[in-house]
Amino acid sequence: MTILEVGPRDGLQNEPIPIPTEVKVEFIRGLVESGLREIEATSFVSPKWVPQMGDASDLWPQLPSGAQFSALVPNLKGLESALQVGCDRIALFTAASDAFTLKNINKTVLESIEVFREVMAAFRAQAPGGFVRAYVSTAFECPYAGRIDPEQVMVVVERILELGVDEISIGDTIGAASTNEVHALTKVLLEEVSLDQLAYHFHDTRGGAIANVAAALEHGVHRFDASAAGLGGCPYAPGAGGNLATEDLVYFLERNGVATGIDLAKLAQASRPVLQHLGRGPISKVQIWELAREKR
Ligand code: HMG
Ligand code: MG
Repeated sequence: MTILEVGPRDGLQNEPIPIPTEVKVEFIRGLVESGLREIEATSFVSPKWVPQMGDASDLWPQLPSGAQFSALVPNLKGLESALQVGCDRIALFTAASDAFTLKNINKTVLESIEVFREVMAAFRAQAPGGFVRAYVSTAFECPYAGRIDPEQVMVVVERILELGVDEISIGDTIGAASTNEVHALTKVLLEEVSLDQLAYHFHDTRGGAIANVAAALEHGVHRFDASAAGLGGCPYAPGAGGNLATEDLVYFLERNGVATGIDLAKLAQASRPVLQHLGRGPISKVQIWELAREKR
């Protein structure tokens, strides 16, 4: 079972209050100390589009040891910045719907896959042994185009697989999916994608994320994205709530006998610097319970 912690990227990218780099570093240090070993630390995107990620090049050299870090890269300019600081695990991102990619990256899905091709070629040449993840957002529902069929997702997945990415993360960007939809899409995906290459990225906007994890587990899926405290949302997906909270995922897995290697009490503390800075209480139910237990 692998959990990819996306809190420092997806968790923070939509926050309107600037979060100092040192607060992000403290957050990430706490995540590593809790036992998380794969962490998406930031995005090398345009700071005009996503100001909160504008400190990516400053943040990267301050990352602690003890985990593998990755970053979102939208184009060759982002790749150049990522490589300059030694980032060798990148995440490309597109979607199942043009309506979303046009808002998010100013390109159609097919245009974005052409950019993937360029970025992949440059990355493989300059970072041999590096790792490439590709996100397919709006895999169940698009905030602009509505419900998405599994076949529409597969068209995009097949094109991305041809490029030789190492992993595909399927995004329920606005947290709309039901368990039936997860079963249906997973069955179709597994005809082409191996279990070692597949991850799910559930947002918990409507409280369905854990149920959707349970549905995916039935098919043997063993890679899930989650965000500490349930922070998160996409600036270009109106109504997108927080990600599945890492605390909720860890509790659910451990209680079902699936070892994660993560210390829940430490994890519940990790997001404290960010929450304090934002002047907000915990969001994840399990985290609220953990923090209350510590006080008893
Ligand atoms: P554009 O405006 O079409 O780009 O944006 P452009 O190539 O025309 O360049 C415009 C300006 O941006 C230029 O600067 C470029 O240099 C600069 P100017 O000459 O005006 O001063 N620029 C950059 N600067 C820094 N880093 C770069 C970069 N590229 C161009 N990499 C672009 C196109 C893709 C850049 C823009 O749309 C963008 O940055 N979008 C990112 C949006 C984003 O990060 N969204 C959130 C992540 S996706 C998500 O959250 C979903 C996910 O969680 C999964 C799920 O939930 O489903 C992954
Ligand atoms: Mg997301």
